[in-house]
Amino acid sequence: MKEQKLRPQLVADHNSLERIFHRPENEQSRNVLTKYMEQILFGLHDFLQKHVGITEEIPLKVLAAQFTSSKIARTPVKKLADIITEIIEEIAPQAVNVSSPYFIGHMTSAIPFFMVHLSTIVTALNQNPVKIETSKVVSVYERQVLAKVHRLLFDLDETFYNIHIQKPESTLGSFVEDGTLANLTALWVARNRLLPSKSGCAGAERDGIAAALKDRGLHRLTILVSELGHYSIRKAAGVLGIGYDAVTPIPVDSANRMDLKVLERTLKEHHRDPETSVMAVIGIAGTTETGAVDPLPSIASLCREFGVHFHVDAAWGGPVRLSERYRGLLKGIEVADSVTIDGHKQFYLPMSNGMVFFRDPKAMDAVAYHAAYINRPGSVDLGIRSLVGSRSATSLVLGSALDIMGAGGYALLIDHGIETARLFAEEIIRRPMFELITAPELNILTYRLVPGELRGSEDPKEPANEEVRLRLLNKINIKVQRMQREAGNSFVSRTTLRRSGRPDTVVLRAVLMNQRTNHKILNAILDEQEAIYRNRIAPTLRLNKAMGLTP
Ligand SMILES: Cc1ncc(COP(=O)(O)O)c(C=O)c1O
Repeated sequence: MKEQKLRPQLVADHNSLERIFHRPENEQSRNVLTKYMEQILFGLHDFLQKHVGITEEIPLKVLAAQFTSSKIARTPVKKLADIITEIIEEIAPQAVNVSSPYFIGHMTSAIPFFMVHLSTIVTALNQNPVKIETSKVVSVYERQVLAKVHRLLFDLDETFYNIHIQKPESTLGSFVEDGTLANLTALWVARNRLLPSKSGCAGAERDGIAAALKDRGLHRLTILVSELGHYSIRKAAGVLGIGYDAVTPIPVDSANRMDLKVLERTLKEHHRDPETSVMAVIGIAGTTETGAVDPLPSIASLCREFGVHFHVDAAWGGPVRLSERYRGLLKGIEVADSVTIDGHKQFYLPMSNGMVFFRDPKAMDAVAYHAAYINRPGSVDLGIRSLVGSRSATSLVLGSALDIMGAGGYALLIDHGIETARLFAEEIIRRPMFELITAPELNILTYRLVPGELRGSEDPKEPANEEVRLRLLNKINIKVQRMQREAGNSFVSRTTLRRSGRPDTVVLRAVLMNQRTNHKILNAILDEQEAIYRNRIAPTLRLNKAMGLTP
C-alpha cells in the first residue's frame, strides 16, 4: 500500500478522541459517517460483484515489498475516509474474491449481504458473552441459539429443551473461534471425562495427564479417526498432552469412509491392552478433502459397545441437517456425544464462528473454571464452561441469520451445492481429458486432468512405467492448478490424497457452495484447465520427450 503523506492537520489529542468515541456532534459529521458506511456497504459489494475474477495477477513477493514498515507512527497519518477508500481500492483488488462463483476451491465463499449489517451491529454493541456483566440478554439469547442448533443436530424432545435451554447448570454447547477449537473443546471434555478425579488423583485437568495416566496404570491414550481426519485433531492431541502420534488413522474404504472392520479390530486391540485407553472415536460428516461422510450409525454402536466417547466432526457437513432432501446423509449424528460445526462454512456466516455441542448437558462440567471476579458458581456466565474467554457476540449473527433465512432458505443453498457437485461430476466423467477421483457425497469432489497419452490402467507387468505415469500426472495437475490460480480468473484447490494401499494422488478439489456457480461456469473452469494443459504444459512435455529427458 502506498505510504500516505504526513498530514499536519492530523493530531492525536483529547478532542479527536472525544469525536472518535462518541456520536457525531452535528448533522454534517453524521452525514459524513453515513457516507462512509455506504461506501463500505456498496463500494465493496459492487466491487466484489463486478470482479468475477479471483485476484489480480500480482505476485505475493511484489505485494510483500509494499508492507515492510514496522514503525507505528507517532501522529495519526490517515483519516477514516482515506482508510476506507484505500482498503476498497488497494487492498480489496489484491485480496481474494471468495464471493466469485468461479471460486470453487475452498470452504470459504460468498456470504449473504445482510451479514455485513449483522456484523456491524455486533461490533457497535461490543458485548462480551464471557460473563453476564458484559452481555446480559446476549448470554440468554446465545443459549437459545445454541439450543436451536443442538436440536437440529440431536433432535431431542421438547421437554428436554424446555428444561435445559436456560438452566444455568446445563450447557448444550459453546461458541468458539472455529472448527479447530471446537474439536479441541470436544476432545478436552472427552479427556477429562475419561480421567476424572478419584481418590488419590485429582484428574487430568488438575493433576496433569502424566499423573492421571500413572494413577490408572495407563501409558497412553489414543484417538481414532479416519485417515482423512482434519489436522486440527492432531493439534488437539498435542495441546491436550496426549501427543499427536496418539491419533491413530483408520484407513478408508473405496468411498473414503472409515473402514469399520479396521475400526472394530483396533478398538478390540486397545481394549485388550491394559496400558492404552481410547479417548474418543471421531466420525467425520464431510471430510475436508473429499466431503465423504463416515458411517456414523455403525461407529456410534461400536463406541457404545466399547464405552468410548463418540465425537462427530461436522464442521463442514453439519448444516446439511437443514435440508429435508439430504438430511438423511448425516444419519447417526443425533447419537453422538459431541459435535463440531462451523458457522463460517455452510451457515454462511462471516469469519469466524465455530461451535461445539454435547448431547449430555452436564458434559461440559468437565471443563468448568471459575474466577473470583466473574464466572462465579451458579451464574449464567458463559465463560464458565468455555475454552475461550472474551469473544464477540456471534450468536447474534447466527440467530438472526436463522430467522432471516429459515431452514428452508438454508436448505436451498445446501441442495444447490450437492446437486451442482453431482452435475459437475457428470461433466468431468463426460470429458475425455478428466478423471473423477472421488464422487461427491455432499458438495465436494476431486478429479484430475489425464491427457489421452497418459490414460491407461495399472499394468502389473510394468510397475516402473506405472510409477512414472503417476508421477507425471501428479506434476501435470500441480502445474494446471497453479497456472489457473495465477491467472486469477477462477480457482479450484489442490490436494494430495494419501490413503493407505493407494499411491499418493494429486487431485483438483472443488467445493460447490456458491449458489451462483452454475453449469456454464463449471464448463468454463474445465475449458480453462484443458487450455492450460494444451497450450502451456503439453508443449514442454513434448520438448522434454524429444530431448530424451524424463519428465
Ligand atoms: C472437517 C473439518 N474439521 C475441522 C476443520 C477446522 O475448521 P477451522 O478452519 O474453522 O478451524 C475443518 C476445516 O476445513 C474441516 O474441514
